[in-house]
Amino acid sequence: MVAFQDWAREQAGYMEGVLAELLPSRDTVPHRLHGAMRYATLGGGKRVRPMLALAAGELTHASRDRVKIVAAAVEAIHAYSLIHDDLPCMDDDVLRRGRPTCHIEFDEATALLAGDALQALAFQLVSAHTLCDSANAQVELIRLFAEACGSRGMAGGQAIDLANVDRQISLPELEHMHMLKTGALIRASVLMGALCGKPLSDAERGRLDHYAKCVGLAFQVVDDVLDCESNTEKLGKTAGKDLNANKPTYVSLMGLTQAKAFAAELLEDAVASVAPFGASATRLTELAQFIVRRDH
Ligand code: IPE
Ligand code: IPE
Ligand code: MG
Ligand code: MG
Ligand code: MG
Repeated sequence: MVAFQDWAREQAGYMEGVLAELLPSRDTVPHRLHGAMRYATLGGGKRVRPMLALAAGELTHASRDRVKIVAAAVEAIHAYSLIHDDLPCMDDDVLRRGRPTCHIEFDEATALLAGDALQALAFQLVSAHTLCDSANAQVELIRLFAEACGSRGMAGGQAIDLANVDRQISLPELEHMHMLKTGALIRASVLMGALCGKPLSDAERGRLDHYAKCVGLAFQVVDDVLDCESNTEKLGKTAGKDLNANKPTYVSLMGLTQAKAFAAELLEDAVASVAPFGASATRLTELAQFIVRRDH
């Protein structure tokens, strides 16, 4: 088995090619919109969600040709969520993945539309390709995806995030917000990747789901920690934004040490949850470790 770093590099390169092919070309009208969609999606990012989908697909022996579509779709949603998250009406950020944010490079209207169009593209992808053995199973996959993106998922989490600037919220409220704004799409990436392959038993699916929830929450806890502890160059986005914007985060509520300890606890929980799968869950375990121990 190749080392995790080499595997991850290979998957990221693979996903770059998949996304480049699936995104509309710059030569297609409207050029500026397609240019913005490609700008925001290609050439950067850790590709954690696609990798989670690919690793979960390995667990259920799913074909790559199916899982790559799920992986591209979740990354398209992620790219859209970042474009909108960076807009002046949300976090008002000028730097993303080491480059000007989409609305700075293009303009606000184009950025807004690029996000809209990436969301539509994601659902086009998961409905235009055969991903599951039965149509019913695929409809279930698409439903799960829609829930993860909508008002009870990512968009809802972003709404809660914005509504709580300058406010003190409780730890359960913060956990709920994080589970929605970041956890939901990460959870969907794992479950959808797995749904492309052989069915899991209810117990197995429960274990994978628990893993996905822990990793999804841990991802945002670590994002909060890095915002406070890392620097702009390493992150490729402006560090220290949460404190400046007076956002409720794990760091503001618990302090750095406790936030890190919480992420470590979530990692342990996630790893234990997939341990019964044995060697076939190696990449999932390594991804969870990467998510918690990363420095960017
Ligand atoms: C950043 O996500 C936004 C959050 C949901 C916390 P990532 O850290 O996955 O961003 P990229 O894709 O690597 O740039
Ligand atoms: C963003 O959370 C979550 C989504 C985009 C859904 P943040 O606002 O913390 O993400 P960064 O720090 O700007 O990447
Ligand atoms: Mg935000
Ligand atoms: Mg932000
Ligand atoms: Mg952040």
